[in-house]
Amino acid sequence: MNRIFVLIVLISARVPFAQSNNVNYDEAKVPVFDLPDPLILADETPVLSSQIWLEKKRPEILTYFEEQVYGRAPRWEHQITFQIREQQRGALDGTALRRQVRIYLLGSTSGPFIDLLIYLPAGLDKPAPLFVGLNFYGNQTIIDDPAIFLPESWVDNEPEYGITDHKATEASRGVREYRWPVRQILARGYGVAAIYYGDIDPDDEGRFDNGIHPWFYQPGQTHPAADEWGAIAAWAWGLSRAMDYFQLDADIAADRVIVMGHSRLGKTALWAGATDQRFAMAISNNSGCGGAALSKRRFGETVKIINTVFPHWFCDNFNAFNDQEEKLEVDQHELIALMAPRPVYVASAQDDLWADPRGEFLAAQAASPVYQLFGLQGLPTEEMPAVNTPVMGTIGYHIRTGVHDVTLYDWEQFMHFADLHGMNR
Ligand code: GCU
Repeated sequence: MNRIFVLIVLISARVPFAQSNNVNYDEAKVPVFDLPDPLILADETPVLSSQIWLEKKRPEILTYFEEQVYGRAPRWEHQITFQIREQQRGALDGTALRRQVRIYLLGSTSGPFIDLLIYLPAGLDKPAPLFVGLNFYGNQTIIDDPAIFLPESWVDNEPEYGITDHKATEASRGVREYRWPVRQILARGYGVAAIYYGDIDPDDEGRFDNGIHPWFYQPGQTHPAADEWGAIAAWAWGLSRAMDYFQLDADIAADRVIVMGHSRLGKTALWAGATDQRFAMAISNNSGCGGAALSKRRFGETVKIINTVFPHWFCDNFNAFNDQEEKLEVDQHELIALMAPRPVYVASAQDDLWADPRGEFLAAQAASPVYQLFGLQGLPTEEMPAVNTPVMGTIGYHIRTGVHDVTLYDWEQFMHFADLHGMNR
């Protein structure tokens, strides 16, 4: 009964929250707020060099995000093992090398695992740079390739994809192809790697008894402590385990792995880039609240809404900022700044007001001073650019026409930005 009740409340919560008058979509009603200055230490000393940023300010911001926002991921002291389950040269009509790797997180086949799907351009004579991203319904959804293993973990029901009892289906092969232009990416010389996010932690509201969390519980523990990892931190941690594999695969340019994500997985991509500096570049697509959008603007989705509807995404300490964003000692521009000096791209969509496109732009812009410390140009514009007019410094940004989604247009900008930064050299 409890579970059904919670589910009904959560489902109905999404609609009224999104449509209620309490959600602010009016620029005139954005409160006056002070953005924390990423170039001033907690003891008020100015950060005058990239060295001080790296040694003092960066850890200060990272620790705050860990303890108050996403939650600390545990240290992983287990031996990880990798099993190549399948590979084929000449996949996708001869254009790709497909490799499917199972990552045993405890080093044992009886422990938890993540399935990694990799496509690399065929016939490469050097290691390939690649885009890695989590997906919502399984690796089989990103392209219609019958050889892709279906996930074995819990999947959110989606009758449209034939998923009705939380199990991935044959019918869902290729259903998200429009979000993953694998062939075009390969043709540009990049590989693509995919992981189903539920392999790391199923995104089933509020539960922490499945997925990776319980493997780290102390005796008697049933829920992460207030400063311990929520689901976003767990998903980001899973991306790092894929990175562990990339470093061992001689066909992959592990120094040019680009982490990309959409929406909740865009929040995750930014957090993965922040916590794991092996990622050479990060891309946030329509990540919104808790991602690229400034929390203190309270425009569209707010901290209170996200913590209420998705209580498992952040750590419990984050609840203290519900309707009290002014108390946050960081804001999301500093999450973006944690990428510095590595390139980072933020993409918004015009009709995606829930994710606050302007707040995403302002955060990208406010991260710029940190890049300037490194002698790099951050976001090269003072004004928010017009729709479909990308701006690209070491921080890149675009707002495209259309709704909350990932489109070919978005991917064309991501690839261009990656080229600009020498990812495909
Ligand atoms: C909801 C949620 C957003 C999230 C999105 C998604 O809309 O409120 O924060 O980005 O789902 O992940 O699809």
